[in-house]
Amino acid sequence: MPTVETHITAADLHAALRHDVEQGLTTRPRTLPPKWLYDERGSALFEQITRLPEYYPTRTERAILASAAVDIAGLARADTLVELGAGSGEKTRLLLDGMRDTGLLRRFVPVDVSGDFLEEAAGKIGLDYPGLAVHAVIADFDRHVEQLPVDGRRMVAMLGSTIGNQTPGQRHDFLSGLRATLKSQDSLLLGVDLVKGIDRLLAAYDDPAGVTASFNRNVLRVINNELGADFHPGRFGHIARWDAEHEWMEMRLRSDEQQLVHIPDLGLTIEFDRGEEMRTEISAKFRIDGVRAELAECGLPVTRVWTDPEKDYAVLLARPS
Ligand code: SAH
Ligand code: AVI
Repeated sequence: MPTVETHITAADLHAALRHDVEQGLTTRPRTLPPKWLYDERGSALFEQITRLPEYYPTRTERAILASAAVDIAGLARADTLVELGAGSGEKTRLLLDGMRDTGLLRRFVPVDVSGDFLEEAAGKIGLDYPGLAVHAVIADFDRHVEQLPVDGRRMVAMLGSTIGNQTPGQRHDFLSGLRATLKSQDSLLLGVDLVKGIDRLLAAYDDPAGVTASFNRNVLRVINNELGADFHPGRFGHIARWDAEHEWMEMRLRSDEQQLVHIPDLGLTIEFDRGEEMRTEISAKFRIDGVRAELAECGLPVTRVWTDPEKDYAVLLARPS
């Protein structure tokens, strides 16, 4: 059975949420960090998104990994796969299969802030990969990256373009911090969604079935559940918008009416104007040269890049310089 290590206690998580909500909702424009979209319900909604016809990143990355996993495993020659923001770990199985074929694979360390979902996913992988040590870590990769296991030869993977949910400054701090923990033989595998036509991006982030809208509104339910707030999620509309200057998609929630929201745990009452928007996520779209430059600046030069034929998505392998 997998072992589960916790870096985030319930109290820790609660304190971090209180801090982010207080900071994000008491200044304008209002913002909330995307990590709070993911309680167990949010993780399940994200899984539903990955199966939508409009949401191309997951299946595109899966196809790249299906054809490149053996090469990736041969280049990394790692005995440990650490996956940051692992979620269901469904595509990760392709990497684990490639790594198992090298005969080196010993350990899988999925890391995620969404603890219950992580434990369940890690349990399933443990059952399907007998002999693999599955060491799930409930942690915030923004804060705990230096506390992850460092023994063995590691490949650290961040798939699904999860890196795109950070601002460029956050990415720089995160990648530099991660680089500092890597030994010369370790590697980083990064999946990134690439810049493409706006219509496809808008469809991917505003699906007609409304799954992305429910995912977006889930952050309000998390705040209700954790901080006793009285958000009415149905009074906020889902907005997906392309920011051409920054080359990122944004999810926002727009207040349908003027309304007051009480957050008793913070002693706050927040007034939303009719039409006021609150940003809940950015999702950067990358250019390969740009990612190469960002990684190199953080001491992680890219050694190999794989893309799909349409160049919708890229997977990059980097090694510490
Ligand atoms: N890697 C999977 C899931 C991507 S969804 C895939 O490619 O499909 C993003 C995942 O990152 C979610 O499971 C979410 O809970 C997790 N996550 C988001 N912010 C996080 C943080 N700061 N620390 C740890 N996990 C985080
Ligand atoms: C996890 N992350 C990379 C997803 C993304 O595309 O930015 C989350 C998501 N947001 C809306 N749909 C999916």
